[in-house]
Amino acid sequence: MKLWGGRFKKKTDELVEEYTASLPFDRRLYKCDIRGSIVHANMLAKCGIISRDEASKMVNGLREIERDIKEGKFSFDIADEDIHMAIERALIEKIGPIGGKLHTARSRNDQVVTDLRLFLKNEILTVGNLLVGLQQVLLELAEKNIGIIMPGYTHLQRAQPVFFSHHLMAYFFMFQRDFKRLKCCYKWMDSMPLGSGALAGTSFPIDREFVAKELGFYKVGENSLDAVSDRDFVVDFLAVASLLMVHLSRFCEELVLWSTEEFGFIELDEAYTTGSSIMPQKKNPDVAELIRGKSGRVFGHLMGMLTVLKGLPLAYNRDLQEDKEALFDAVDTVKMTLKVFTGMLAFLKPNPKKMKMATERGYLVATDMADYLTGKGLPFREAHEVVGKIVSFCLEKGCSFDQLNLGDYRKFSPQFDEDIFEIVKVENSVESKISQGGTSSNRVREQFGIAAKLIAEEEKWLRAH
Ligand code: ARG
Repeated sequence: MKLWGGRFKKKTDELVEEYTASLPFDRRLYKCDIRGSIVHANMLAKCGIISRDEASKMVNGLREIERDIKEGKFSFDIADEDIHMAIERALIEKIGPIGGKLHTARSRNDQVVTDLRLFLKNEILTVGNLLVGLQQVLLELAEKNIGIIMPGYTHLQRAQPVFFSHHLMAYFFMFQRDFKRLKCCYKWMDSMPLGSGALAGTSFPIDREFVAKELGFYKVGENSLDAVSDRDFVVDFLAVASLLMVHLSRFCEELVLWSTEEFGFIELDEAYTTGSSIMPQKKNPDVAELIRGKSGRVFGHLMGMLTVLKGLPLAYNRDLQEDKEALFDAVDTVKMTLKVFTGMLAFLKPNPKKMKMATERGYLVATDMADYLTGKGLPFREAHEVVGKIVSFCLEKGCSFDQLNLGDYRKFSPQFDEDIFEIVKVENSVESKISQGGTSSNRVREQFGIAAKLIAEEEKWLRAH
């Protein structure tokens, strides 16, 4: 007999049971569910709605159930529909009809969303920890390799030389924004739904502030209809997770490219690559590719959740049950991805020679040359034109800037002097970019300092939650 079976004469169709059940996946919420139930029982007793003795029997029963589930001794039955009813049924079996009082002043509608918020708040902290770990490894890699020069690109065409560390730090700041978004997301979801009942609130004299405090929520949900039907916090998380995956995917795309024979800028550790079943020589960047690929499923969950929500009238609708698998998969994907990516990064070996070589062809210092003429008083637009002609000349001759002598330069502009030979050195080009946030080594070191402070702030926030 179903816990809700009173008004039914017929048995639920088996296929319907299977179709509607969330138990196969929402059992993952058991700890949060029991935590919420324990606080709810204590609140009922505190408010005189049940006796102290009844509450303590419930609490003991719930703790036993938690142990049973943890130890794999709990028998799950799909006929229970979901984790909430599975636990309630087990409680009644354990402590008798008193167990049936637990659901006083409560509905599965406010229960499930409380569980989900508890679950996600905790997962956000885990994701946050992993993200800080990644930022640390990234910062170390950048610090260790200061001095390596590589081509910076636009349109994937060699553009201007930059420090490899500068390039790495660009990702640091993307991840920094992801961390901030996670923090916001945590704040937004820090609202306690229990006590909203099915949709209207309850006539029992409950104490929602007590429940919120005991469960570690910042505040009580203001509107019962909103509280039971709101899944914005799931969307928020999926959006934050999606953008984080975008950043990881972009990084991985570069790692895939850089580890090719053609680029050869880096070598990925063997432990983070795989072989081919047919081509014995292959060492493939499958981890990086999978991270790039798995971003798709996280974006998919975001789109899926928006679609689930968009046509729902207030308040609870069973469609909302579709929130869980999407969220769980996104959480798992992001956590695994962060772990494996951080490992891959920790063992990544840059190849300074190859990177440097790539800066020597492609006239990457052409802008420096134009800036030089501009410094001598030529309007930048004219300087651009002059250097464009020099590039065209070199291309025809098949030579690089290095091979030009002062006479060659002066054919294009009388403003050129001996000091042009210093200007066109790649090392001098990078060091000349002294503007705030630029690639000169001092400015990159400045970023290291900022990054270290940000990491310390992030860690402080994680410790405080
Ligand atoms: N398993 C349900 C869910 O995940 C729990 C809430 C069910 N409520 C209801 N009235 N059927 O959303």
